[in-house]
Amino acid sequence: MQEGKPRSLKVSIDEVSVGMVLQDVFNAQGKLLLSSVTITAHDQIEALKRQGVEYAFLAPPVNRSSQNVPPEPEQPELPVPEAITITKREDNYYKELDRAKEVHQATLEAARNTLKAARFGKQVDITSIELAAEEMVSSILRNPDALVSLAQIKGYDEYTYVHSVNVGILITSLVHTMGYTEEQLLEAGIGGLLHDIGKMRVPERILNKPGKYTSEEFSIMKRHPENGINILKNANAISDFSKVVIIEHHERFNGKGYPRGISEKDIHEIGFIAAVADVYDAMTTDRIYRPAWTPQRTLAMIFQGCDIDYSRRIVELFTRHLGIYPVGSFVRLKTGEMGVVTRVEKGSILTPQMLVLFDRYGNPLKKPVEYNLAELQKTKHGDRYHIEISLNPEHYRIKVSDYIQSNPFS
Ligand SMILES: [Fe+2]
Repeated sequence: MQEGKPRSLKVSIDEVSVGMVLQDVFNAQGKLLLSSVTITAHDQIEALKRQGVEYAFLAPPVNRSSQNVPPEPEQPELPVPEAITITKREDNYYKELDRAKEVHQATLEAARNTLKAARFGKQVDITSIELAAEEMVSSILRNPDALVSLAQIKGYDEYTYVHSVNVGILITSLVHTMGYTEEQLLEAGIGGLLHDIGKMRVPERILNKPGKYTSEEFSIMKRHPENGINILKNANAISDFSKVVIIEHHERFNGKGYPRGISEKDIHEIGFIAAVADVYDAMTTDRIYRPAWTPQRTLAMIFQGCDIDYSRRIVELFTRHLGIYPVGSFVRLKTGEMGVVTRVEKGSILTPQMLVLFDRYGNPLKKPVEYNLAELQKTKHGDRYHIEISLNPEHYRIKVSDYIQSNPFS
């Protein structure tokens, strides 16, 4: 777990859970109602909601276990289900994870260098991107989940190239599940890695502008798909399929996208895929001007855009691919326990594997416990091993990448 600098963090009342210490509690009108409250029971949260409380500020972190938070008397003790939760430890996911990390690093390097060359107006050579895409495809063919979990690790710096790699991984892994050929995987991956290369012709002051664009700035920004194609015009052969990813990733179902404003039937399937992968990664990443959205909130937003911005079929496939609670989601169970989703298996998107980091009273565990929700739901208290809500990990000083980057048991 990460120890952050002590500071207050705003949380919605829906994210408040037992064990939290709230520094200040406000109603909808912004009036301070309470200060320094320790939440010791769910009833307290309900009472706050009834009083119209919408948000609160968390107290700076302290060692919660030393605060002697009294247990909720009405809840039966649950057995710690460690013994039945450990499954398939020998499968090739963790084996692939180490190789995937190398592929991920090399791909980041290739994307950084290629985008940099474009930024400085140099001749772009995409050989390193092609090689990186080949390695990416090989990793996905060996085990699709490993590289995808690395794409959920977000950083603050050098957004464009990290985003390019994440989009490349998301596109390639999704089309793999859709039965595309290996060559198409490769070309889709190359397109994903280069989809925003045209942004290298957008002045940095516009690219990194925190506020809203003026209409003039937006029209410059909107040229980036075409700029991308122009930059690559003289590059060694880039396939038409890769070009579709670049030119269509901002086209929208209703025709209100750019650069061409084409709609529905005229947008290639890979264009729709690129659009969803692009917006998903963008929204789940912290930016200077807004914090990252949780994967769940982002997927809900994308769902709302079905038949308006996005193709419903692709959104459904994408959600099935990532899971409702994708790897890296920080979630609370009905038991009150909280942890990080570490693995989503196909066919059980509501019951991922997770590492539990906080007990039901909100106390951090000394050692994370691995839960397989699918297995736990078959047990006596199974009805309580459901995910209740997806939370913002920052509110709990959690850096999710600490838990999904490596095999916690190795
Ligand atoms: Fe873009």
